[in-house]
Amino acid sequence: MLKVCIIGCGGIGGYHLSHLVQFTDIIELAGFCDLIPEKARAFVEKAGSGKAFTNYVRMYDEIQPDAVFICIPPVSHGEGLIELDTIERGIPFFVEKPVALNLFIANRIRDAVEKKNLITAVGFQLRYDNLTEPVRAFVKENKLATINVTRVGGIPMAWWFLDRATGGGQIVEQTIHQFDMLRYVYGEPESVFTMGARNFINPAPKGYKTDDYSATVVRFKDGALATITTGLYATAGACADNKMTFGAKDSRCDFYPAQKALIYGKAPAPKVDEKGTQSIVAGDGALKSSDGAVEYKCNVDYGVLCDRTFVEAVISGDGSKVRSPYADAVKTLEFVLACNESMDTGRMIKL
Ligand SMILES: NC(=O)c1ccc[n+]([C@@H]2O[C@H](COP(=O)([O-])OP(=O)(O)OC[C@H]3O[C@@H](n4cnc5c(N)ncnc54)[C@H](O)[C@@H]3O)[C@@H](O)[C@H]2O)c1
Repeated sequence: MLKVCIIGCGGIGGYHLSHLVQFTDIIELAGFCDLIPEKARAFVEKAGSGKAFTNYVRMYDEIQPDAVFICIPPVSHGEGLIELDTIERGIPFFVEKPVALNLFIANRIRDAVEKKNLITAVGFQLRYDNLTEPVRAFVKENKLATINVTRVGGIPMAWWFLDRATGGGQIVEQTIHQFDMLRYVYGEPESVFTMGARNFINPAPKGYKTDDYSATVVRFKDGALATITTGLYATAGACADNKMTFGAKDSRCDFYPAQKALIYGKAPAPKVDEKGTQSIVAGDGALKSSDGAVEYKCNVDYGVLCDRTFVEAVISGDGSKVRSPYADAVKTLEFVLACNESMDTGRMIKL
């Protein structure tokens, strides 16, 4: 049985715990650590096994875990560097996004992981959505010009989120998933230009010092352009689901991660207007060109798959099925930090 521990028994730690309790065929939930003892104890209760700790070093010494889930706030990746101690002990780890708030820390951890050849995974669970397969096939088969991404949610009410200095901000903490998904299904960004906006949320929560919404333009290495408009100002019911539109010349893919993907343009588009007097481009303004979409549905629990893949990788010693190893997640961090830098300097940032 693989001995698994969790560090950080908050919101996302609970999400992982809800998956891990389903894997008791292959793991033993052995230890839970949080700075707040009641939170660690509550995890012991939910798991029905293991021991609570307030200090991860003591937990490591006593439990000697085979794998650990690190679910701490973004700013805490700089405190004491839990990851470096974990690597030093040779413990494979799953860590939540964003992996750090600056590249100095993230690169140090990445290099240490590489030296030890350790299995790692990062919480970009949307990568395990079955819809990524048809979407990746679509973007491979069709040369893209434009990509549009939207997502509007509410404010995560964690103390560390409210200030960009501790949470990373609206892009780095929250919509990093959309930036990561773009990299995963499409490709690597070459440059970004981002504008952000503040003071839209009024009254704001006490101590609120971050962006409410942002718009980013990305140029990809192959020349395609993306716009990414995301925000966190919406109240329940007004949120806009995550949507990504990949536009090619003769076809289009609307990807709603975790829901569905629609591929348009397989059916023939109308050619010219009926009178033949205008030379219009087929499909221009003709909504009929959207008829006949091929629809794919999300039919997996991608969160469970994400965690199970990591656990199985540790057991087998083969990390090749992990879709977001640490080194790859650092590239996503670089992408979103470039957006913050662009927002702050008013300059386009090359990656
Ligand atoms: N993948 C996802 O979809 C997703 C969703 C939500 C949150 N997250 C990420 O997960 C991370 C945590 O978010 P959350 O909502 O769970 O935050 P949270 O504040 O609810 O929980 C974090 C917990 O970590 C504990 N902690 C902090 N430092 C610690 C330390 N040194 N040792 C032990 N415990 C420590 C805190 O006491 C707290 O209980 C953030 O980086 C967030 O961006 C990811």
